Amino acid sequence: MVAEAFASATIHFFEPKEFSLMEFSFKKSCKYKIVKYFLLQKTVSKLIHLFLKINGVIEPTGSSKVFFHPFSYRKFHPGAKIKILSGDLLFGYPFPDVSYFPSYTKSVIAMGENSQLVINGDVNIVNGCIIKLAKNAILSIGDGTSISQNNVILCGAEIEIGKNCLFSWNIQIMDLDGHKISRKGEIPVKKSKKIKICDNVWICSNATICKGVTIGEGSVVGANSVVTCDIPPFSVAVGNPAKVVRENIAWEK
Ligand SMILES: CC(C)(COP(=O)(O)OP(=O)(O)OC[C@H]1O[C@@H](n2cnc3c(N)ncnc32)[C@H](O)[C@@H]1OP(=O)(O)O)[C@@H](O)C(=O)NCCC(=O)NCCS
Repeated sequence: MVAEAFASATIHFFEPKEFSLMEFSFKKSCKYKIVKYFLLQKTVSKLIHLFLKINGVIEPTGSSKVFFHPFSYRKFHPGAKIKILSGDLLFGYPFPDVSYFPSYTKSVIAMGENSQLVINGDVNIVNGCIIKLAKNAILSIGDGTSISQNNVILCGAEIEIGKNCLFSWNIQIMDLDGHKISRKGEIPVKKSKKIKICDNVWICSNATICKGVTIGEGSVVGANSVVTCDIPPFSVAVGNPAKVVRENIAWEK
């Protein structure tokens, strides 16, 4: 009798209908957890936006928003402003389809006194980036520009980034040297010179962009290159220091 009951229970347990129901509820609960996680992220992100807006850090236009990933690190000194002229800024979220950066590294934004981050359109700064603005510095980024993993942007005075630019990973952009160099006997002066990256520029992985340069519209900077002087429009520049190797080019995303 016990054996019969056991057999029927076993059969009952493995009945296909029951099994598919179990599978269904398992999938459902997984989906539920994922949806709940993303909803929570979105809610936290909205609360951060609201908090920073009330504190006068974010100045949006119309329905523009800044979506900070909840794990991103944010530090704003008095008078620092994020001005959103149009579109949305997505900060610190990983690209959904990129699997070669498996772990999440947080993005950092630190803005000094009276510094300004001006966003004019939809801009995506993904996870692992470090954006630092010194006192009174201005960083502006145009519509459709995408900044990939582990980019470092150090802005001492002014950096202007145009529309539809594509920055690959591990890029450094610095309009300052950080430390002072001078001839012996002279008083060392800290130097900052504006960087201008025009519309539709593609900067390949591991490149470094130094102070005072302008990268012309539609140009490409090769992987591991160090840009120390101006790059004309629609050209490919490579090497250290970067030199133009191709002219009159067009590239596609
Ligand atoms: C810049 C780049 C796109 C140029 O590609 P390309 O137009 O096909 O250029 P070529 O391969 O014809 O190279 C032209 C010349 O530049 C040299 N060159 C190209 N890339 C170079 C680089 N990163 N550093 C040094 N020299 C480079 C080539 O050796 C070649 O020199 P040669 O004429 O003396 O033989 C490519 O070289 C590059 O850097 N790719 C990396 C892309 C990347 O980082 N992608 C990440 C995802 S966004």
